[in-house]
Amino acid sequence: MCGIVGFVGRKEASPILVEGLSKLEYRGYDSAGVAILEDGEIKVKKYKGRLKNLEENLNENPLKGHIGIGHTRWATHGEPSDINSHPHSNGDVTISVVHNGIIENYIKLKEWLKTKGYTFCSDTDTEVIPNLVDYYYKGDLFEAVTKATSKMEGSYAIGVISKEEPDKIVAVRKDSPLIVGVGEGEYFIASDIPAVLNHTREVYLLEDKEFVILTKDGVEIKTEDGEKIDKEIYHVTWDVDAAEKGGYEDFMLKEIHEQPKAIKDTLTSRVLKDTKVQLDDINLTKEELENFDRVFIVACGTAYHAGLVGKTIIEKLAKIPVEVDIASEFRYRDPLITEKSLLIVVSQSGETADTLAVLRDAKKTGAKVIAITNVVGSSVSREAHHVLYTWAGPEIAVASTKAYETQLIAMYILGIYFGELKGTLNKEVSEELKEELLILPDKVKEILDKKDELQKYASKNYMDKDLFFLGRGLDYAVALEGSLKLKEISYIHSEAYAGGELKHGPIALIEKGTPVIALLTEDKLKDKMISNIREVVTRGARVLAIANEGDKDAKEVCDDVIYIPRTNSLLTPVLSVVPLQLISYYMAKQKGCDVDKPRNLAKSVTVE
Ligand code: M6R
Repeated sequence: MCGIVGFVGRKEASPILVEGLSKLEYRGYDSAGVAILEDGEIKVKKYKGRLKNLEENLNENPLKGHIGIGHTRWATHGEPSDINSHPHSNGDVTISVVHNGIIENYIKLKEWLKTKGYTFCSDTDTEVIPNLVDYYYKGDLFEAVTKATSKMEGSYAIGVISKEEPDKIVAVRKDSPLIVGVGEGEYFIASDIPAVLNHTREVYLLEDKEFVILTKDGVEIKTEDGEKIDKEIYHVTWDVDAAEKGGYEDFMLKEIHEQPKAIKDTLTSRVLKDTKVQLDDINLTKEELENFDRVFIVACGTAYHAGLVGKTIIEKLAKIPVEVDIASEFRYRDPLITEKSLLIVVSQSGETADTLAVLRDAKKTGAKVIAITNVVGSSVSREAHHVLYTWAGPEIAVASTKAYETQLIAMYILGIYFGELKGTLNKEVSEELKEELLILPDKVKEILDKKDELQKYASKNYMDKDLFFLGRGLDYAVALEGSLKLKEISYIHSEAYAGGELKHGPIALIEKGTPVIALLTEDKLKDKMISNIREVVTRGARVLAIANEGDKDAKEVCDDVIYIPRTNSLLTPVLSVVPLQLISYYMAKQKGCDVDKPRNLAKSVTVE
C-alpha cells in the first residue's frame, strides 16, 4: 500500500529518491520521507502530507549523500503523522528502514524487543524492523536482515541502510512487489518500474525471499542462506513517457485517451481474422477445458465489474457455468471450488491482497488458475498456472479506466479461445466477433471526440448530490462501473440498479429533478429498459441515455442522449463505458477534485 525507493551511486541521492517517489505516489500519498547517509550518519526527513512537503523541506535544508532510501505512505497501522511516516529507525538511528506491507506479528515482536531494552516512538508495525535488525546485527547487515526477516510474519518489501556499513542497501521482498534497477555505476530499488525508468531500463524482478545487496560497484542477489542467485535482467520496452502525463492535465484523462491503443495492443497477435485465437501463456487442452465443471471469476472493484461482463461472454461462447465474486467475500464463504474448477483472477496491479489470497487458496484445492493482469512479474502472474496479460501500459491514476477496457478485451479473448477449443462457437459468430473487436479502437476514438457534449452534461450536473445509473444485462454491469467511477473521483453519491429491480425499492428515491443515466445499448432488452426509463421520468427524473447510434426512441423518452457507434451487442460495454468515464472525470474536475489521487484511496490495495 506504500511505495519504496532506494539509490546507491555517485550522484546526490536525495533528488533521485524524490523523483522516484513522485512516480509511486499512486501507491499512497499521505506522507513521505527519506533517509540518507550523510558523512557517515543517517539523516532522516519525513513529513505528513503530500510529497511536495518533503520536497520543499529538502530544497530548504538539503541532505547530502550518495546512498539513501525513500517512502511514500498509505496509512495502515497508525494515523498519517510525521512520527508514523517512514523511514523508521532504531533508537540511536544506526539503522533505517522503508517498508511496504504489513508485519502481522509486530505486537509480539515489539513486546519481545521491549524486554531486550528497545523503545518505540510510533504506532506502526514497521518500527519493529530496524530494531530487530539492530538486535541481530553482529557486523554483517545482510546476515542481520536475513535473521530479522525470518522472525517477521506478513508481507514486506523493505530497504535497509546502516551507518555501520555506509556503502550499501540491503533489500528483500515477501508478498509485496520490489524491483532492482541496474544503471551504470548506480543501482536502485523500487516498488514499481516507473520509479527508475528515467535512469535505466534494465531491471531485476525480484521473487519472494530474494535478498539483494546494492553498492556503487554492483548488485548481488542471494538466498536467505547466502547462496548467490543468477537472475535474468528484464529489459523494459515501454517508454518513460508512458508513465508521465504527456501533455494531459491528469493521468486519468491521458489514460482514457490511451484506450484505443491499449485495446489494440491487447488484441495484437492474439485475435486475427480467419485464425483461431492463439495465446502464448495459456495452453489448455480441449480435454482439460471440458473437464472443468465451473469457472469462477474473482476480483475487486473495477476488475470485478470486468468479471461480470466476462460471465456473460464465457457462458455464451463456451457454454461453461460461470460464477463471479468479490475476492474479499469469496475467500471467506467456503466456496465449492475443486480440482474440476477453473479460477480466473483479474487484477490490474496483480498485487491486490484479497485476490492473491483467493488464488493461493484455490491452488490448494487443486483448481487451475488463469490470471488476467497488467503487470509483468506481479504476484498473481507468477503464482497462477496461466497468464493473460492486458497490455494497457502503466496505469497511474487511482481510478481504473484503460485497465478496465483491456480486462474486457481479455474476457472476449478468453471467451472466443474457450469456445473455439471446445467447439461451442461456430466459425461465423467467431469471425464476426473478431472483425468487430479489431475495429473497436476506432469506435472508442469516435466517442472520445464527443468530449464537448460530455463536458456540457457534466457542467450542468456536477452540483448534484446523488446520481443513479440504470441498465439491464451487460448494460447493468457497465452501470456499476460508471457509478463506481463517479463516486470514487467526484465524491458524488451514486448507485447503479438493474432496470427491473427499480420497482422493488429504489424507485422510492426518485423525485423531481433526480439525475439518472440510463444505458440503452442492449437491443433485446431495449423495450423493457424504455419502460423503466418512463417509470423514472414520470416521477420527475432528468434522464441522460447512452444509446446506439440512430436510436430514435431514446430521444423521445430521455432529456439528453449520447450516441455511441453500433457494434456486436456482446461488445457494447467497451464503448458504453467511455462516456461514463468522461462524465465522471469532468464532474470531478468541475468540483475541483484531485482526480488522480482521490481521498482515502490507493491504487493497489495490498492489505486486507
Ligand atoms: O489492481 P486491481 O485490479 O486488483 O485493483 C482492484 C481495485 O482496487 C481497483 O479496480 C479499484 O476499484 C479502482 N480504484 C477502481 O477505479
